[in-house]
Amino acid sequence: MPYPFVGNMDLMGKLRSVELSTLVLPTLLLLLFYGARGSHCSLVHVNMTDRRSLLDFKEAITADPRGALHDWNDGIHYCMWSGVSCSVRHPGRVTALELGSLNLTGQITPSLGNLTFLRELNLTDNHFSDQLPSLNRLIKLWFLDLSGNILQGNIQDATIALANCSKLMCLDISSNMLVGSIPRKIGSFSNLEALYLFQNNLTGTIPSTFSNITRLELISLAENQLEGNIPAELGQLSNMAVVELKGNKLSGRVPPGLGNISSLLVLDLGMNMLSGALPPDIGDTLPFLEWLSLGTNNLEGHIAPSLGNLTFLRDLNLTNNHFSGQLPSLNRLIKLEFLDLSENILEGNIQDATIALANCSELWFLNISSNMLVGSIPRKIGSFSNLEGLDLSQNNLTGTIPPTFSNITRLVYLSFGENQLEGNIPGELGQPSNMQALVLKGNKLSGRVPPELCNISSLLELDLGMNMLSGALPPDIGDTLRFLVWLSLGTNNLGGHIPDSLGNASALVHLDLSSNYFTGQIR
Ligand SMILES: *[C@@H]1O[C@H](CO)[C@@H](O)[C@H](O)[C@H]1NC(C)=O
Ligand SMILES: *[C@@H]1O[C@H](CO)[C@@H](O)[C@H](O)[C@H]1NC(C)=O
Ligand SMILES: *[C@@H]1O[C@H](CO)[C@@H](O)[C@H](O)[C@H]1NC(C)=O
Ligand SMILES: *[C@@H]1O[C@H](CO)[C@@H](O)[C@H](O)[C@H]1NC(C)=O
Ligand SMILES: *[C@@H]1O[C@H](CO)[C@@H](O)[C@H](O)[C@H]1NC(C)=O
Ligand SMILES: *[C@@H]1O[C@H](CO)[C@@H](O)[C@H](O)[C@H]1NC(C)=O
Ligand SMILES: *[C@@H]1O[C@H](CO)[C@@H](O)[C@H](O)[C@H]1NC(C)=O
Ligand SMILES: *[C@@H]1O[C@H](CO)[C@@H](O)[C@H](O)[C@H]1NC(C)=O
Ligand SMILES: *[C@@H]1O[C@H](CO)[C@@H](O)[C@H](O)[C@H]1NC(C)=O
Ligand SMILES: *[C@@H]1O[C@H](CO)[C@@H](O)[C@H](O)[C@H]1NC(C)=O
Ligand SMILES: *[C@@H]1O[C@H](CO)[C@@H](O)[C@H](O)[C@H]1NC(C)=O
Ligand SMILES: *[C@@H]1O[C@H](CO)[C@@H](O)[C@H](O)[C@H]1NC(C)=O
Repeated sequence: MPYPFVGNMDLMGKLRSVELSTLVLPTLLLLLFYGARGSHCSLVHVNMTDRRSLLDFKEAITADPRGALHDWNDGIHYCMWSGVSCSVRHPGRVTALELGSLNLTGQITPSLGNLTFLRELNLTDNHFSDQLPSLNRLIKLWFLDLSGNILQGNIQDATIALANCSKLMCLDISSNMLVGSIPRKIGSFSNLEALYLFQNNLTGTIPSTFSNITRLELISLAENQLEGNIPAELGQLSNMAVVELKGNKLSGRVPPGLGNISSLLVLDLGMNMLSGALPPDIGDTLPFLEWLSLGTNNLEGHIAPSLGNLTFLRDLNLTNNHFSGQLPSLNRLIKLEFLDLSENILEGNIQDATIALANCSELWFLNISSNMLVGSIPRKIGSFSNLEGLDLSQNNLTGTIPPTFSNITRLVYLSFGENQLEGNIPGELGQPSNMQALVLKGNKLSGRVPPELCNISSLLELDLGMNMLSGALPPDIGDTLRFLVWLSLGTNNLGGHIPDSLGNASALVHLDLSSNYFTGQIR
């Protein structure tokens, strides 16, 4: 687990742009390096209970493909065994057991509950199955990572198995197969700073007792089956930095109380059933937000203009909701790198939308597809020189494609498909670049397929179908675009011979030349 930053790999990936240093949870980080790492106990000290507990644990391991426990034998003091650390002050007492990512198969034996000096238990990313035994005597335990196993049973029982571990600061049981609903008792782990329960099969509602865990800085309940409202009480957790609830069945509104967590850096509520409007002051109450994802919900109303005050924002994902009206000015978001507004019902002129983003020069991903924008693509679009992905498809854009793309050399994906664009395809699109997909289908583009497009040798997908293009294809198209996987030119007015060179585009999976005026043979 990539703790102490963020547990979910997906979120981790998304956060690559968020300054991770700002997410470090200071107390925990200190503690990570605290405690007895080495095993420089004097080796005469032997606690028979601890030794017996470890041997019991080893006996229950049914597969150890990497021989991780090869040195767990009588010839070596158990404090020297791989993954075992002992106390300095209490020689012979086991303080840490760290056996992550070793492909171990087996069970977490009840004997581990006898390692009463244990402070850290890390069995992440193995194949431990069955239920969590009682670890209730481990009153010193502060770090428990059992993520990425196949633990079963009810989260209620797991909570009871840990009920006396009141020193726990980091609890990670994510990516297992736990069921049941999160017990109200969770609120009694009052020292927790990080709680990861994502990717289980948890049901029921989010208990309001989370508000008791006042030190909580990070909570991920993502990818479960949780339902009901987001409890407004979460708003009382004034140290919170990361709230990740995506991929559940949560409903109701985004509670205005969340605005009380002014320390929040990451808020991910995507892929739920949230409805209603955003709290209008969300941008003023969460001033440090770097990452806001509300995609795939049923949210509606205007995009709150206060979002324009989130000057630290890097990532804003509002895709697939019912947001309407015009895009407010986001001009102060000079750190914005990623903006996904696709699949809403946003209106207004693309010129105004571009002005609303004019200072967002760090943008590398801009998706406003599937909205109701009108107007013609401004020449200014060329000033977003860091763009790697630009998708304006499925709007109602008119006019011509501006020839101002020579500055956007990083583009990998460009789609203006399914608008009402007309005129020629500008040859300027065809400069050598890293472009992999160019989609202009479903417009009213006319004129020739510009030979310059053949300069984009990295292209994998070229879709110019359903336009009014005419003339012959560039003869060398198949030689220069030799990595093409998808070539769609169907439903145009193209003519002449089908270039022989197409036979050299050996990666082609999809080739559509239908409904044109091509003549001659296919070779
Ligand atoms: C060994 O551990 C047991 C169980 O935790 C404890 O009761 C006992 O006092 C310890 N013995 C020594 C010699 O430390
Ligand atoms: C837990 O174990 C994993 C895999 O060995 C490791 O990557 C991670 O850093 C460990 N966690 C801590 C806090 O030591
Ligand atoms: C771990 O096990 C999986 C299958 O369960 C296997 O694909 C993988 O190669 C193994 N890795 C190691 C390091 O043994
Ligand atoms: C725990 O230790 C006690 C003795 O200290 C022993 O009687 C008991 O069987 C142990 N429990 C497990 C589950 O190993
Ligand atoms: C918790 O600890 C107390 C005292 O140490 C003990 O009486 C109680 O039985 C423990 N609870 C559980 C669930 O083991
Ligand atoms: C939450 O805190 C209140 C007041 O401190 C306390 O009475 C209550 O028992 C706690 N609830 C839980 C579930 O820990
Ligand atoms: C979660 O529970 C549902 C219903 O009980 C079941 O169909 C599904 O397979 C479970 N998913 C996982 C990942 O365990
Ligand atoms: C948010 O803070 C204000 C002022 O401190 C308080 O009145 C309000 O009840 C809080 N809301 C929530 C949901 O905690
Ligand atoms: C935006 O959020 C939605 C839903 O949460 C997700 O499916 C989508 O992948 C996100 N967009 C990007 C480009 O990451
Ligand atoms: C943005 O912040 C400024 C200064 O705090 C405030 O005056 C303004 O009303 C805020 N704008 C919005 C739209 O909330
Ligand atoms: C392209 O970049 C040059 C130099 O940075 C700048 O002068 C020009 O205005 C830019 N063109 C567009 C269309 O943004
Ligand atoms: C596009 O504009 C035309 C004419 O203004 C209108 O009839 C049509 O419904 C619009 N289409 C969309 C998808 O907004």
